[in-house]
Amino acid sequence: MVSISTFHCVFLMFLLACIFEVGYGKMVFNVMEDGAIADGNTDNSKVFENVFNKACQSKGRKLVLIPRGIYMLRPILILRDSGKLDGQGPSAWNNNTSSKDPNCKALPILLRFDFITNSRITHLTSINSKNAPVNVFACKDVKFDHIHIIAPKDSPNTGGIHLGSSSNIQILDPTIATRGDCVSMSPGSKNINIKNVKCGPGHGISVGSLGEGPNEEDVSGFMVTNCTFKGTDNGLRVKTWARSYASNVFNLTFEDIIMDNVMDNVNNPIIIDQQYCPSRNCEKGDSQVQIRNVKYRNIRGTSSSKIAVDFECSKGKPRDKIELNNINLTYHGAEGAVASSCSTAKRITNGQQQPDSYSTHSCSTFHEIKTYSSLIIQFFW
Ligand SMILES: *[C@@H]1O[C@H](CO)[C@@H](O)[C@H](O)[C@H]1NC(C)=O
Ligand SMILES: *[C@@H]1O[C@H](CO)[C@@H](O)[C@H](O)[C@H]1NC(C)=O
Ligand SMILES: *[C@@H]1O[C@H](CO)[C@@H](O)[C@H](O)[C@H]1NC(C)=O
Ligand SMILES: *[C@@H]1O[C@H](CO)[C@@H](O)[C@H](O)[C@H]1NC(C)=O
Ligand SMILES: *[C@@H]1O[C@H](CO)[C@@H](O)[C@H](O)[C@H]1NC(C)=O
Repeated sequence: MVSISTFHCVFLMFLLACIFEVGYGKMVFNVMEDGAIADGNTDNSKVFENVFNKACQSKGRKLVLIPRGIYMLRPILILRDSGKLDGQGPSAWNNNTSSKDPNCKALPILLRFDFITNSRITHLTSINSKNAPVNVFACKDVKFDHIHIIAPKDSPNTGGIHLGSSSNIQILDPTIATRGDCVSMSPGSKNINIKNVKCGPGHGISVGSLGEGPNEEDVSGFMVTNCTFKGTDNGLRVKTWARSYASNVFNLTFEDIIMDNVMDNVNNPIIIDQQYCPSRNCEKGDSQVQIRNVKYRNIRGTSSSKIAVDFECSKGKPRDKIELNNINLTYHGAEGAVASSCSTAKRITNGQQQPDSYSTHSCSTFHEIKTYSSLIIQFFW
């Protein structure tokens, strides 16, 4: 069973098509049946409000269906308290028989936003989604603010906000504490502004895995600022399949990331992994994904692993313009002082703080490790 206290959702202007899948969707509330008109002119605000109210008040599994079309909406406010969606995940997490039963259906994603434009989704809380809590696909000019996502850190596949094929997306002030990526971005993510994220537990903020299929859309233009990570497995991660198809990742900036005293269990605070191959089913090889112009600035805190900065590159596509500026990550564990691990990256020269720390060649061999009590790197080119 699914319980929803109140659904608070603001749509501004147009909505192309949007499916809210709540729980294991069976009871369907189709806006067309309540008189919605998808002509781009008729004001559908009242209809949508009624449909959401009906869905929220009914018990059991439900789906609000908004068929493809252009719906004119005034800002709709259905609120009092912030909206809470309880996915009732624990009832399903232990029943996952898909490994034994090939006909087993995937568990539902709690909220799907598909083909939405010019919208704002605000003050929503997802608790214990059965599968991914928020999936954003083919959206444009959408702002998500104050989205809170909660699930136990040992829950399967929960994650946070997942984006794909979407552009001009803002994710502001979310709190995400689950298992999986707090925010993850797949091919076609462009101009993404992520700000004031409180992440952890979870896997940090991730780009990828990229290069899985042919003709993947590029990934570009991320601004990730003022985020804190607490007890996450990774911090800022870019991953491409080891044996990949060609694509491009460029213009990513990660700035003012505060890990001080809050990131005690992070494995790799900064990682670019172009050798991603987590299972036996994937092939090793040289990634054909070109990574260019990635900036890490003002990142500080503690690392629970010795390798605070880990760059696993592709010999086929050396990365270009990776900037590490004002990074101070300390490690207090048993293995000694913090280290960075660095391989094939082009045009890296050593910084001022540690004149002997990095030289051009120290980053050209695979996995060379240098050790310092704290790591302060500035690369210029
Ligand atoms: C999970 O299994 C329990 C007991 O085996 C059952 O009562 C429950 O209905 C199942 N949940 C789902 C979502 O199938
Ligand atoms: C169910 O388990 C399979 C593998 O056993 C896994 O691939 C799948 O993601 C799981 N699904 C959920 C929703 O946990
Ligand atoms: C940074 O984030 C914190 C909360 O995570 C917030 O209180 C603070 O105002 C943010 N700073 C800026 C400049 O946005
Ligand atoms: C990427 O960044 C470079 C340098 O800052 C800039 O010249 C270029 O226009 C950017 N590309 C895109 C597609 O934003
Ligand atoms: C680096 O961080 C440590 C611990 O957080 C702090 O003691 C040290 O002063 C910092 N170093 C610089 C140069 O900011």
